[in-house]
Amino acid sequence: MKHDGKIALVTGGSRGIGKAISRRLAEDGADIILNYKSDSATAEETANELRELGRRVWVFQADMKDDKAIRGLSKSVKDEVGQLDILVHNAAFGTMGSILRMGLFSWRAAMDINVTALLLLSQQLSPLLAERKGHIVGLSSIGANMTFSEYACIGVSKAAMEALVRYLAYELAPIGIHCNGVSAGPVETRALDWFKWPDAVHRYATTKSPWSRIGQPNDLAGVVSFLCSADADWITGQIICADGGISMGENFHDWLTPEQKAELNKGK
Ligand SMILES: NC(=O)c1ccc[n+]([C@@H]2O[C@H](COP(=O)([O-])OP(=O)(O)OC[C@H]3O[C@@H](n4cnc5c(N)ncnc54)[C@H](OP(=O)(O)O)[C@@H]3O)[C@@H](O)[C@H]2O)c1
Repeated sequence: MKHDGKIALVTGGSRGIGKAISRRLAEDGADIILNYKSDSATAEETANELRELGRRVWVFQADMKDDKAIRGLSKSVKDEVGQLDILVHNAAFGTMGSILRMGLFSWRAAMDINVTALLLLSQQLSPLLAERKGHIVGLSSIGANMTFSEYACIGVSKAAMEALVRYLAYELAPIGIHCNGVSAGPVETRALDWFKWPDAVHRYATTKSPWSRIGQPNDLAGVVSFLCSADADWITGQIICADGGISMGENFHDWLTPEQKAELNKGK
């Protein structure tokens, strides 16, 4: 398998997209270091599912907002695991709301968790990753490039993370480390509850995607696994968009008159 003998750290790996990524990397042969913030029961449940695949799993609690906790996580990876091939920064935070009324606490927390945590983990773990010609992947959002109502706090932090991915890719290539990002559209996880009207996000996603459905965690997992494989050795500093086609364009259907819609549907 493509990740046999490798060890992957996934931040926020206990549920949602992080869980799907951890599972896919484990199915592809990797042992997994699961990080989570507060829900130890779910983290242990996920860890046990991965162990059933025959993989070794370490579970390390650490809040990606706390630089001391990040240093502790890196130390645990170095001292207790001693090898790292893949670092996936998937944990994220954001407050929904108007940018004009965005509180500084929320703004700084998004920057800390979505951007600074990736910087610190890369600084602290790149010596270990370099020994294995490793891979770094950051989870981003199409809201980094497109504007969505009430999404500024997350969108701006993800745009900063995407820029960080490119700078990391540039600086880490000489020591053999690839760094890329994966950008998602709406995905059916608990994060959708951050929105005031999750049902509207659901309708938006299923309407805008030509595949007429919302993203699922597994839609991202295979892309991450591929980016961390030898098949992706010539890809670095890129943000791969996996959004079911949502961001590729517009259609005029929403602006058709009822008569035009009827004409379009004639014969269907
Ligand atoms: N869902 C979407 O529509 C969507 C769209 C675009 C991009 N993304 C991106 O995809 C990634 C995963 O999102 P998701 O929807 O899977 O989220 P999720 O379902 O809310 O899962 C979040 C995971 O991150 C952990 N976590 C949260 N805050 C953390 C912190 N401060 N430190 C460490 N771990 C933390 C959680 O652990 P606990 O359970 O212990 O708190 C959990 O394992 C994020 O980067 C997100 O921005 C998601």
